[in-house]
Amino acid sequence: MIRIIRHLVLFLAFALPFNGTAQTDSVRTLYKITKEITADSAVVVTAHPLATKVGLDILRKGGNAVDAAVAVHFALAVVYPQAGNIGGGGFMIYRDKLGNASCLDFREKAPSAAFEKMYQDSMGRVLSKKSTYGALAAGVPGAVDGMWEAHKKYGKLKWGELVMPSVELAEKGFQITPNEAEGLNEQRIFFVKNSSLTPAFVNMEGWKPGDWLIQKDLAETLRRVAGEGRDGFYSGATAKLILREMEKKKGIISEEDLKNYKSVWRKPLEFDWKDLHVITMPPPSSGGIILRQLLAMAGDLKKYGFHSAEAVHLVVEAERRAYADRSVHMADPDFYKVPVQMLTNPEYLKTRMADFNPDTVSSSANLTAGAIKESEETTHFSIVDAEGNAVSITTTLNDSYGSRTVVGGAGFILNNEMDDFSAKPGVANMYGAIGGKANAIEANKRPLSSMTPTIVTRTNKTWMVLGTPGGTTIPTSVFQVLVNVAEFGQTLPEAVQAKRFHHQWKPDHISYETDCFSQEVEATLTRKGHLMNPRESIGRVEAIIRLANGKWQGVADERGDDCAGGY
Ligand code: GLY
Repeated sequence: MIRIIRHLVLFLAFALPFNGTAQTDSVRTLYKITKEITADSAVVVTAHPLATKVGLDILRKGGNAVDAAVAVHFALAVVYPQAGNIGGGGFMIYRDKLGNASCLDFREKAPSAAFEKMYQDSMGRVLSKKSTYGALAAGVPGAVDGMWEAHKKYGKLKWGELVMPSVELAEKGFQITPNEAEGLNEQRIFFVKNSSLTPAFVNMEGWKPGDWLIQKDLAETLRRVAGEGRDGFYSGATAKLILREMEKKKGIISEEDLKNYKSVWRKPLEFDWKDLHVITMPPPSSGGIILRQLLAMAGDLKKYGFHSAEAVHLVVEAERRAYADRSVHMADPDFYKVPVQMLTNPEYLKTRMADFNPDTVSSSANLTAGAIKESEETTHFSIVDAEGNAVSITTTLNDSYGSRTVVGGAGFILNNEMDDFSAKPGVANMYGAIGGKANAIEANKRPLSSMTPTIVTRTNKTWMVLGTPGGTTIPTSVFQVLVNVAEFGQTLPEAVQAKRFHHQWKPDHISYETDCFSQEVEATLTRKGHLMNPRESIGRVEAIIRLANGKWQGVADERGDDCAGGY
């Protein structure tokens, strides 16, 4: 009975804030999930309905977009443990109501004891499990420092007020969705194996949709963060628990690493494209550069038509060239001089496409360097507030549930971001993936990312806020949503929910969602020489657009439990 009452309270509490014009409401078993919303003042779109609610509550209390983003980030760490995090890192693009743009890099860093060959055996063979599972796979987390920095610079409400909703969610628990139950059950054995203590994520009888996930240890950690800010994570009791986990599970993050972690304010990558201005993520993400390259090399698509063979062929050929560049030229700019000017120069991009043949594929083998293997489990959220400030944040543990190492007594999952480095530059690892020297492991370096949080303006006003998870598919998904609206004239809901495709040079095939192409288009692409590789869903875009009537429209991807809210 108590459970039923809690359920109802949760449903009602959740349903109330959504006063905008919801066009398509799909009432799921547990939560009211809104995929599209039109609102006069403010919009929040995240991967989980409870995180969206937390963000909206903060906005209603008078918080700004950054306050809401901080609160959402912590809420996702509780209700969306597969990618939401305090043990990982991410990137923020921010544009204030006056048009000032900034960019915060809170990506994880390699521990100071990390070294180039740390995932190789004495014969030079790559030990890929070591960079994906367990404490040794973890980079120094940046999430809490990132939120602290963002709040210090732009926040309006008190820090503690932004963290407390998550303390409550962790302490009182919440009901897990079918997706979450499935994810946690799949990972049970890995959590047990890679953590020193059995974490709250493990239910030996198996999770069922609607079960309550209560995270007491995480609640205590978040309470320390709420009270002490950054220090509540990087020193004191939380730091001690992280170090104990490192000792027990043979990780290498040290006390100094935690103390010294610092997010970096970077200059966003900005460029004009047609009548739009794009503000996006520079290195250590490859995302912004690839987005710029694709728009320049393949942005004139209107004349071909949406998902026509000509359009897809052009985009794929541009992608082939962009991802070849990625593997050689992109890395942490604090360690490697990324030639951003060259890679985004219109003349250079023209020469890249000089050998484009509309009738046939070009050869990936004849382009230099190697393939990329990168996890797709990340999460994105987009927020605009009533004053017109906009936040676009993509954050990650890397793999789904990161390293599957939960810090004993602290209740949060550590990332496995070290796997985004090249474990052995220039040589294929056991999965055939080859990485460049630029992205080799070095102490205190950030691994190359694909995350592409983006804000697009038109006539100097924020027009679109978007981003997605999806590893290497992130830049191509952001590109597709943008051109679906700007070139093909789709509405934002159409653009987000449209089927997507992806090519990353190597492996040399077009990955695409089922039913993405007509049989005729598929046959034409095959005739041109493309190898076709159907796969499961690509990305989960959370986007906001300013409509012609001045209202905001928020769209959450149908591919998950994602939810839009606004007022
Ligand atoms: N770990 C996924 C990314 O950073 O792109």
